[in-house]
Amino acid sequence: MILPRKVNIVEVGARDGLQNEEPVSTHTKIRLINLLSDTGLTHIEAGAFVSPKWVPQMADSLEVMNAITRRGNVIYSALTPNFKGLEQALKAGANQVAIFTSCSEGFCQHNINCSITESLKRFEPIMEMATKQHIPVRGYLSCVIDCPYDGPTRPNQVAKVAKALIDLGCYQVSLGDTIGTGTPKGVAHMLETAQAVIPTHQLAVHFHDTWGQALANIYQALTMGIDTIDSSVAGLGGCPYAHGASGNVATEDVLYLCQGLGIETGVDLELLAKAGWMISEELNRQPTSKVSLALRRRSDSYTS
Ligand code: HMG
Ligand code: MG
Repeated sequence: MILPRKVNIVEVGARDGLQNEEPVSTHTKIRLINLLSDTGLTHIEAGAFVSPKWVPQMADSLEVMNAITRRGNVIYSALTPNFKGLEQALKAGANQVAIFTSCSEGFCQHNINCSITESLKRFEPIMEMATKQHIPVRGYLSCVIDCPYDGPTRPNQVAKVAKALIDLGCYQVSLGDTIGTGTPKGVAHMLETAQAVIPTHQLAVHFHDTWGQALANIYQALTMGIDTIDSSVAGLGGCPYAHGASGNVATEDVLYLCQGLGIETGVDLELLAKAGWMISEELNRQPTSKVSLALRRRSDSYTS
């Protein structure tokens, strides 16, 4: 078995995380992104240009992205469901954007108020403008294992819609287990089917940890050559249109797993965990990351 030598982490806590937490101030979001920028991360999803009626937590994404301190080597990306979203993202100086659809019709309707086919049509002008502006576009595909409205997803359907996103011009598709029900066997089958039509380096994985299987699924994906992993500092979040779904796998846990496997990430675990404690304290809760809690206990025992 060959594992990747290096893994790219896409830090989604400031978007996927905070979109489904109690609202925090614009200042706190800026502070979080600035702390994350100091950890060695090279891709931070910093906001979403979606309807504020649908997701009020992301309504200040323009202010946030205009005020963060940027590092030259870091991608600060944003979600753009339609052309209006792209226009806002460009104003905000996003140097990458992400379009998002679903493998299942039920989730697509609930999340972006259109069918899968309509969503792909809607993305065409985004791709055209982004290409003109030299802005890379990432694709997200939700419900690659199960849909909260339509039930189990067929791997062939994942491959078909993922390929459609690649054919539109996305440089990569992130495969989302939105409600976190996947286990390694099903994930392997889904990935194998997607890998039959899309080169592995153009696939990323995005596991929510609702059923506690995310790390096992990530390990499975690593053994299959996947080298881009989405994760969320402190395990923040969920999805407003997938009720009961908990946050993404915690970045701290992914970093620790990679360290143990000898896989480079370029990210400083201790600094990342500190950013996680800052935002958790603002939210008046603990990180869901076991690694973060263990690091905190260890440092408390040194100082007591
Ligand atoms: P709609 O209601 O069909 O859109 O929503 P519309 O074009 O009819 O516009 C309705 C209103 O929204 C209008 O305002 C528009 O101006 C406004 P009004 O005239 O009523 O005052 N509007 C916008 N405002 C700001 N930015 C925009 C925008 N577009 C329209 N871009 C729409 C369609 C796509 C806009 C809506 O459904 C929406 O915003 N959905 C986003 C939902 C969302 O953000 N979900 C969470 C992110 S996806 C996710 O978490 C999954 C992921 O993590 C992967 C995984 O885990 O599976 C990526
Ligand atoms: Mg998500």
